[in-house]
Amino acid sequence: MTTTVIILAAGKGTRMRSNLPKVLQPLAGRPLLGHVIETAKKLQAANIITIYGHGGDLVRNAFNQEKIEWVEQTEQLGTGHAVKVTLPVLAKEGVSLILSGDVPCVQQSTLQKLVEASTETGIGLVTLTLEDSTGYGRIVRKNGKIQAIVEHKDATEEQRQIKEINTGIYCVSNAKLHEWLPKLSNENAQGEYYLTDIVAMAIADGMEIASIQPEFAFEVEGVNDRIQLAALEREFQQHQAKTLMQQGVHLIDPSRFDLRGQLTVGKDVRIDINVIIEGECSFGDNVEIGAGCIIKNTQIAANTKVQPYSVFDSAVVGGNVQIGPFARLRPGAQLSDDVHIGNFVEVKNSSIGLGSKANHFAYLGDAEIGSGSNIGAGTITCNYDGANKHKTIIGDEVFIGTNNSLVAPVKIGNGATTGAGSTITRDVAEHALAVERSQQFTKENYQRPQKVKK
Ligand code: UD1
Ligand code: CA
Repeated sequence: MTTTVIILAAGKGTRMRSNLPKVLQPLAGRPLLGHVIETAKKLQAANIITIYGHGGDLVRNAFNQEKIEWVEQTEQLGTGHAVKVTLPVLAKEGVSLILSGDVPCVQQSTLQKLVEASTETGIGLVTLTLEDSTGYGRIVRKNGKIQAIVEHKDATEEQRQIKEINTGIYCVSNAKLHEWLPKLSNENAQGEYYLTDIVAMAIADGMEIASIQPEFAFEVEGVNDRIQLAALEREFQQHQAKTLMQQGVHLIDPSRFDLRGQLTVGKDVRIDINVIIEGECSFGDNVEIGAGCIIKNTQIAANTKVQPYSVFDSAVVGGNVQIGPFARLRPGAQLSDDVHIGNFVEVKNSSIGLGSKANHFAYLGDAEIGSGSNIGAGTITCNYDGANKHKTIIGDEVFIGTNNSLVAPVKIGNGATTGAGSTITRDVAEHALAVERSQQFTKENYQRPQKVKK
């Protein structure tokens, strides 16, 4: 059976008090609507229809890489009206999963369960039992069977006691949507076309309503203001942290861990507090990440140790490497196995060979460094002449003295040595020593000037 996913995302989100449309607010580094779209894609739906309105093109443009059918709802007349505007493009057969752009965490497994449960009945809902159900649509049952959904504002005192609520996630036969939606009325407390009224229509048609509950409550939590956004962010992060711990990661404190993307891990990875991981990252066995590191789109091989407060972006790090504290790897940094990168060392678009070291204060940009070389403290590759970037090529077993300026383009041969404080502007041959600094002048028994007394 073909499945369509319909995502409601036309609401304004007034309570966010933001210039950004609500569905573009980020949760774990990705827009709320982006989470829903990712989940929809995993379901391999035949079609994803998103209803947009507020924030118009801003919302569409944020997802212009995605294969989505956009339907505009120019006036927000209610959830039933929102789905109704999709009818001209909605298939006549199959089923639709109806989701909300501001309920970002619903899991693929829950939606699959819903589709399965709804196959025979033709309509099903995700419901949740809450201690405090204030504000939600209540699930009215008779002899255990769902009869209707009553919105909080329309509910009687007795109905308001009901703790089972409508999460706003449905699976409905498309044929029935085509039949029911044109018949919705807005005669209710809010003067809106309620999608929830299709439940009573199904009952009138003699249908039974299937229902399931999600595995985790946070899956169906919506975001209406920044307090709920922050609370959901924490719940989502705790969930991710648990999943990683179940995979064998040692998180020193799961409440101080943030993953804004995907992390693939080996065994016995250890992550200290306040680490932020972004984009696509992978850590091999026994990788250790010190406190306060920010690591984005980076692969780190087994047994590498990253000391606190290091920042990596789009780097590839070999095994058994030691980095930091306070190291920075920028895009294109490639470190081979056994490399040492120390404090205040910045590496950009450079490859560093097996076992080479740059232990203190250095800038290595557009460089190719061989194996077993040592880069002295304070060394700078002068890669930029104000107009163009140039390469520094350093061979194997090279010793660069401290405080060198290597003015690119320049080549230092295998086994070569440069003296401390040198500005190297010309190539250095293999095994040569290059020193570029003035001779030391010494005056014996020197008397410093004395302070004049007034
Ligand atoms: C809705 C349900 C309620 C349920 C609750 C769960 C209805 C009538 N009520 O109430 O039973 O408990 O969700 O969170 O459906 N939207 C549009 N166009 C519109 C109106 C809404 O796209 O014209 C979108 C909103 O952007 C939002 C979603 O639909 O993503 C839900 O709308 P909202 O106004 O938040 O519905 P609730 O009153 O919370
Ligand atoms: Ca809502």
